Amino acid sequence: MSRLFSNTSGLHTSRLLIRAVGQYEERQYLNINELPYNSKTLSALQEWSQQGCLLFFIILRNTHRWSQLELHVPEGTVVGFIQVLPERNRRSEISFRTQSSSRGLGYMKEALTVVFDYLFEVLQRLELLVETRTDNSAVRRLMEGLGLRGQPGSGFGGPSIVYEFGRHSWTYRH
Ligand SMILES: CC(C)(COP(=O)(O)OP(=O)(O)OC[C@H]1O[C@@H](n2cnc3c(N)ncnc32)[C@H](O)[C@@H]1OP(=O)(O)O)[C@@H](O)C(=O)NCCC(=O)NCCS
Repeated sequence: MSRLFSNTSGLHTSRLLIRAVGQYEERQYLNINELPYNSKTLSALQEWSQQGCLLFFIILRNTHRWSQLELHVPEGTVVGFIQVLPERNRRSEISFRTQSSSRGLGYMKEALTVVFDYLFEVLQRLELLVETRTDNSAVRRLMEGLGLRGQPGSGFGGPSIVYEFGRHSWTYRH
């Protein structure tokens, strides 16, 4: 699993730590993604890792909610993840998810802001891409709230919206 983990010790906001998923933390990741913990899902994770996929946890620091024991890591509670696929044709595709009980609290907007900065400034990724179904109003509002504008696409076998942007568009977004 080691390649799932980037070499950053973590990105910080006032309340969140965003860091690479560590060894033996597959269970928390699968839990948030509503996937079963079994040999099939573990080997899919292993395969992503070998392909150079980055996987970050979004951790609400210093919180240990007893109702979410399964999402605990030493630094706090995992409230979501961000996955970054390896660069292909200059683009890195991003997907993400917030734990259902932690949605609407601004966590993903806060986390994506620092992760996009990191991908452009530190990892020197050229273009980032987020694609969602047209009817996913949460993602559309989130991306537009980040100052990004989408274009029509068809990536999910139906109508979609594609947000594709480079460092310049990200830096000078409004
Ligand atoms: C999309 C998702 C990641 C948003 O996460 P979140 O942590 O709840 O988002 P935030 O709290 O940071 O909200 C960011 C913005 O989106 C808006 N938003 C969040 N959920 C929303 C919803 N269900 N409907 C409309 N707007 C929504 C917020 O109001 C906020 O807008 P604002 O900045 O104008 O106030 C979350 O709903 C999710 O995990 N959905 C399922 C998985 C998914 O669709 N992933 C995307 C695959 S690319």
